[in-house]
Amino acid sequence: MALIVVDHPLAQHLMATLRDRTTPAHLYRAACTELSRLLIFEATRGLPLTERRIHTPLEETTVRQLVAPPAVVPVLRAGLGMLGAALELFPDAPVGFVGLRRDEHNFTPARYYCKLPPLAGRDALCLDPMIATGGSAEEALKLIQAEGPRSLTMVAVVAAPEGIDRLAKAHPGVAVFCAALDRELNARRYILPGVGDFGDRLYGTEEA
Ligand code: PRP
Ligand code: URA
Repeated sequence: MALIVVDHPLAQHLMATLRDRTTPAHLYRAACTELSRLLIFEATRGLPLTERRIHTPLEETTVRQLVAPPAVVPVLRAGLGMLGAALELFPDAPVGFVGLRRDEHNFTPARYYCKLPPLAGRDALCLDPMIATGGSAEEALKLIQAEGPRSLTMVAVVAAPEGIDRLAKAHPGVAVFCAALDRELNARRYILPGVGDFGDRLYGTEEA
Protein backbone atom coordinates (compact mmCIF):
# COMPACT_ATOMS: atom_id res chain seq x y z
CA MET A 1 0.00 0.00 0.00
CA ALA A 2 1.38 3.43 -0.93
CA LEU A 3 1.34 6.08 1.82
CA ILE A 4 1.87 9.64 0.57
CA VAL A 5 2.35 12.32 3.23
CA VAL A 6 1.78 15.67 1.53
CA ASP A 7 4.44 17.87 3.11
CA HIS A 8 3.87 21.03 1.06
CA PRO A 9 4.55 24.06 3.32
CA LEU A 10 0.97 25.26 2.91
CA ALA A 11 -0.34 21.86 4.03
CA GLN A 12 1.85 22.01 7.12
CA HIS A 13 0.71 25.59 7.82
CA LEU A 14 -2.92 24.46 7.70
CA MET A 15 -2.10 21.48 9.93
CA ALA A 16 -0.85 23.96 12.55
CA THR A 17 -4.30 25.62 12.54
CA LEU A 18 -6.04 22.26 12.91
CA ARG A 19 -3.74 21.10 15.72
CA ASP A 20 -4.06 24.29 17.78
CA ARG A 21 -6.71 23.74 20.45
CA THR A 22 -7.61 27.45 20.46
CA THR A 23 -8.80 27.37 16.79
CA PRO A 24 -12.57 28.06 16.76
CA ALA A 25 -14.91 25.86 14.68
CA HIS A 26 -15.39 28.35 11.82
CA LEU A 27 -11.62 28.68 11.27
CA TYR A 28 -11.19 24.93 11.74
CA ARG A 29 -13.72 24.27 8.96
CA ALA A 30 -12.00 26.77 6.66
CA ALA A 31 -8.58 25.18 7.27
CA CYS A 32 -10.07 21.73 6.73
CA THR A 33 -11.48 22.81 3.36
CA GLU A 34 -8.19 24.42 2.25
CA LEU A 35 -6.14 21.41 3.30
CA SER A 36 -8.58 18.96 1.71
CA ARG A 37 -8.23 20.84 -1.59
CA LEU A 38 -4.45 20.33 -1.52
CA LEU A 39 -4.74 16.68 -0.53
CA ILE A 40 -7.37 15.84 -3.14
CA PHE A 41 -5.36 17.70 -5.79
CA GLU A 42 -2.38 15.44 -5.02
CA ALA A 43 -4.50 12.31 -4.69
CA THR A 44 -5.96 12.75 -8.19
CA ARG A 45 -2.67 13.22 -10.05
CA GLY A 46 -3.09 9.82 -11.73
CA LEU A 47 -6.60 10.33 -13.14
CA PRO A 48 -6.81 9.15 -16.74
CA LEU A 49 -7.00 11.69 -19.57
CA THR A 50 -8.37 11.38 -23.06
CA GLU A 51 -7.21 13.30 -26.13
CA ARG A 52 -9.49 15.49 -28.24
CA ARG A 53 -8.92 17.69 -31.28
CA ILE A 54 -10.17 21.27 -30.91
CA HIS A 55 -9.66 24.62 -32.58
CA THR A 56 -8.04 27.42 -30.60
CA PRO A 57 -8.75 30.86 -32.05
CA LEU A 58 -5.52 30.39 -34.08
CA GLU A 59 -5.23 26.73 -35.11
CA GLU A 60 -6.26 23.16 -34.55
CA THR A 61 -4.56 21.34 -31.65
CA THR A 62 -4.82 18.29 -29.40
CA VAL A 63 -6.02 18.81 -25.82
CA ARG A 64 -6.29 16.39 -22.94
CA GLN A 65 -9.34 16.16 -20.71
CA LEU A 66 -10.44 14.02 -17.79
CA VAL A 67 -12.19 10.85 -18.89
CA ALA A 68 -14.55 11.25 -15.92
CA PRO A 69 -14.48 12.92 -12.51
CA PRO A 70 -13.78 10.61 -9.58
CA ALA A 71 -16.66 9.49 -7.38
CA VAL A 72 -16.24 10.83 -3.86
CA VAL A 73 -17.40 9.10 -0.71
CA PRO A 74 -17.11 11.02 2.58
CA VAL A 75 -17.41 9.03 5.79
CA LEU A 76 -19.99 10.65 8.08
CA ARG A 77 -19.63 12.74 9.98
CA ALA A 78 -16.09 14.19 9.87
CA GLY A 79 -15.54 13.31 6.20
CA LEU A 80 -18.23 15.86 5.28
CA GLY A 81 -15.68 18.53 6.14
CA MET A 82 -13.69 17.41 3.08
CA LEU A 83 -16.59 17.15 0.63
CA GLY A 84 -16.84 20.84 -0.25
CA ALA A 85 -13.23 20.89 -1.44
CA ALA A 86 -13.78 17.74 -3.53
CA LEU A 87 -16.80 19.30 -5.24
CA GLU A 88 -14.96 22.56 -5.86
CA LEU A 89 -12.31 20.58 -7.74
CA PHE A 90 -14.75 18.16 -9.41
CA PRO A 91 -18.19 19.85 -9.51
CA ASP A 92 -19.76 16.98 -11.46
CA ALA A 93 -18.44 14.20 -9.21
CA PRO A 94 -21.00 11.63 -8.11
CA VAL A 95 -21.17 11.49 -4.30
CA GLY A 96 -21.83 8.57 -2.00
CA PHE A 97 -22.02 8.45 1.79
CA VAL A 98 -20.93 5.95 4.41
CA GLY A 99 -22.04 6.57 8.00
CA LEU A 100 -19.81 5.02 10.67
CA ARG A 101 -19.67 5.69 14.39
CA ARG A 102 -16.70 4.47 16.38
CA ASP A 103 -17.76 2.78 19.61
CA GLU A 104 -15.80 4.58 22.34
CA HIS A 105 -15.51 1.39 24.45
CA ASN A 106 -14.37 -1.25 22.00
CA PHE A 107 -13.19 1.23 19.28
CA THR A 108 -14.85 -0.69 16.46
CA PRO A 109 -16.93 1.13 13.83
CA ALA A 110 -20.70 0.62 13.68
CA ARG A 111 -22.29 1.29 10.30
CA TYR A 112 -25.53 3.35 10.36
CA TYR A 113 -25.76 4.47 6.72
CA CYS A 114 -24.48 3.52 3.29
CA LYS A 115 -25.58 4.97 -0.02
CA LEU A 116 -23.18 4.67 -2.93
CA PRO A 117 -23.56 5.71 -6.57
CA PRO A 118 -22.66 3.21 -9.32
CA LEU A 119 -18.89 2.83 -9.03
CA ALA A 120 -18.05 0.07 -11.52
CA GLY A 121 -15.10 1.19 -13.63
CA ARG A 122 -14.82 4.59 -11.89
CA ASP A 123 -12.00 6.12 -9.93
CA ALA A 124 -13.18 6.57 -6.34
CA LEU A 125 -11.96 8.68 -3.42
CA CYS A 126 -12.85 7.87 0.18
CA LEU A 127 -12.70 10.96 2.43
CA ASP A 128 -12.19 10.65 6.19
CA PRO A 129 -9.84 13.01 8.03
CA MET A 130 -8.75 10.56 10.76
CA ILE A 131 -7.15 7.13 10.45
CA ALA A 132 -6.62 6.10 14.08
CA THR A 133 -7.04 2.32 14.62
CA GLY A 134 -7.92 2.18 10.92
CA GLY A 135 -11.16 0.31 11.65
CA SER A 136 -13.43 2.94 10.13
CA ALA A 137 -11.31 3.37 7.00
CA GLU A 138 -11.04 -0.40 6.58
CA GLU A 139 -14.83 -0.76 6.73
CA ALA A 140 -15.52 2.21 4.41
CA LEU A 141 -13.00 0.98 1.85
CA LYS A 142 -14.52 -2.51 1.97
CA LEU A 143 -17.99 -1.13 1.19
CA ILE A 144 -16.67 0.98 -1.69
CA GLN A 145 -14.43 -1.76 -3.07
CA ALA A 146 -17.43 -4.11 -3.25
CA GLU A 147 -18.93 -1.82 -5.92
CA GLY A 148 -16.00 -2.49 -8.28
CA PRO A 149 -14.28 0.88 -8.79
CA ARG A 150 -11.39 1.07 -11.29
CA SER A 151 -9.20 2.58 -8.56
CA LEU A 152 -9.72 3.50 -4.92
CA THR A 153 -7.78 6.16 -3.00
CA MET A 154 -8.09 7.11 0.66
CA VAL A 155 -7.72 10.80 1.50
CA ALA A 156 -7.18 11.60 5.19
CA VAL A 157 -5.75 14.49 7.20
CA VAL A 158 -3.95 12.68 10.03
CA ALA A 159 -3.01 9.00 10.24
CA ALA A 160 -1.54 6.90 13.03
CA PRO A 161 1.00 4.13 12.36
CA GLU A 162 -1.39 1.50 13.75
CA GLY A 163 -4.12 2.48 11.29
CA ILE A 164 -1.73 2.56 8.35
CA ASP A 165 -0.42 -0.93 9.22
CA ARG A 166 -4.00 -2.20 9.37
CA LEU A 167 -4.93 -0.69 5.99
CA ALA A 168 -1.75 -2.02 4.40
CA LYS A 169 -2.89 -5.54 5.34
CA ALA A 170 -6.61 -5.13 4.57
CA HIS A 171 -6.34 -2.96 1.43
CA PRO A 172 -2.85 -3.33 -0.07
CA GLY A 173 -3.98 -1.86 -3.41
CA VAL A 174 -5.32 1.39 -1.95
CA ALA A 175 -3.09 4.49 -1.87
CA VAL A 176 -3.45 6.68 1.23
CA PHE A 177 -2.83 10.44 1.05
CA CYS A 178 -2.60 12.46 4.27
CA ALA A 179 -0.97 15.61 5.64
CA ALA A 180 0.57 14.00 8.74
CA LEU A 181 1.64 10.59 9.99
CA ASP A 182 1.51 11.08 13.75
CA ARG A 183 3.31 9.26 16.58
CA GLU A 184 0.84 6.89 18.26
CA LEU A 185 -2.60 6.32 19.76
CA ASN A 186 -3.46 6.97 23.41
CA ALA A 187 -5.47 4.57 25.61
CA ARG A 188 -8.75 5.97 24.19
CA ARG A 189 -7.38 5.43 20.67
CA TYR A 190 -7.02 9.12 19.93
CA ILE A 191 -4.11 10.14 17.73
CA LEU A 192 -1.10 11.82 19.41
CA PRO A 193 -0.27 14.62 18.98
CA GLY A 194 -3.32 14.68 16.68
CA VAL A 195 -6.04 17.29 16.47
CA GLY A 196 -8.51 15.92 19.04
CA ASP A 197 -11.97 14.79 17.93
CA PHE A 198 -12.14 15.97 14.34
CA GLY A 199 -15.94 15.84 13.99
CA ASP A 200 -16.53 17.67 17.27
CA ARG A 201 -14.05 20.41 16.37
CA LEU A 202 -15.49 20.75 12.87
CA TYR A 203 -19.04 21.17 14.13
CA GLY A 204 -18.41 22.87 17.49
CA THR A 205 -19.84 19.97 19.50
CA GLU A 206 -16.98 19.52 21.97
CA GLU A 207 -17.90 19.23 25.61
CA ALA A 208 -16.81 22.26 27.64
C1 PRP B 1 -13.74 9.47 13.62
C2 PRP B 1 -13.08 9.72 12.29
C3 PRP B 1 -12.98 8.33 11.71
C4 PRP B 1 -12.77 7.48 12.93
C5 PRP B 1 -11.32 7.10 13.02
O1 PRP B 1 -15.10 9.33 13.46
O2 PRP B 1 -13.79 10.61 11.46
O3 PRP B 1 -14.15 7.93 11.00
O4 PRP B 1 -13.11 8.27 14.08
O5 PRP B 1 -11.08 6.19 14.03
P1 PRP B 1 -10.60 4.70 13.72
O6 PRP B 1 -9.52 4.77 12.72
O7 PRP B 1 -10.11 4.21 15.06
O8 PRP B 1 -11.78 3.91 13.24
P2 PRP B 1 -16.13 9.11 14.69
O9 PRP B 1 -16.45 7.66 14.85
O10 PRP B 1 -15.61 9.84 15.89
O11 PRP B 1 -17.46 9.76 14.16
P3 PRP B 1 -17.81 11.26 13.72
O12 PRP B 1 -17.06 11.51 12.44
O13 PRP B 1 -19.27 11.16 13.50
O14 PRP B 1 -17.42 12.21 14.80
N1 URA C 1 -11.22 10.18 15.74
C1 URA C 1 -10.91 11.48 15.92
O1 URA C 1 -11.72 12.37 15.60
N2 URA C 1 -9.71 11.80 16.43
C2 URA C 1 -8.80 10.87 16.79
O2 URA C 1 -7.71 11.24 17.27
C3 URA C 1 -9.14 9.52 16.62
C4 URA C 1 -10.35 9.20 16.09
